[in-house]
Amino acid sequence: MYSDKVMDHFTNPRNVGEIPDADGVGEVGNEKCGDIMRIYLKIDNNVITDVKFKTYGCGAAVATSSMATELIKGKPLEEALKLTNKAVVEALDGLPPVKIHCSVLAEEAIKAAIADYLTKKGLDPKLFGIDLKACTGCCDSCHE
Ligand code: FES
Repeated sequence: MYSDKVMDHFTNPRNVGEIPDADGVGEVGNEKCGDIMRIYLKIDNNVITDVKFKTYGCGAAVATSSMATELIKGKPLEEALKLTNKAVVEALDGLPPVKIHCSVLAEEAIKAAIADYLTKKGLDPKLFGIDLKACTGCCDSCHE
């Protein structure tokens, strides 16, 4: 049912934890299952220098968050904002269709954390193409 990569990131998740002095924190809930994801970012000179996550979610949420954090670490914000849940799922060699909605959590939490960082800097996240109200992860229609 799950690929080797999913099992690897589920049993040995990367970047689990919190960053007490994070520059941006994003938390989102998955309305389909009630699970929650929180992402912490350290940002220096527009580059994500560190990232950690905590989730109260299923194995697929853990694996996708682990992979997503690996994919954005060391990347400029602009690049991290382009990360889609589809790209994360592909990097994991796929997820069962019924679990695709779980991968939305990581993408949305990353966007929320970057939005938090920008807002603290006095910038409007919408100018960077982040519109958190446009998607709450409540359906898969814009993510498949
Ligand atoms: Fe809730 Fe997977 S079942 S995130």
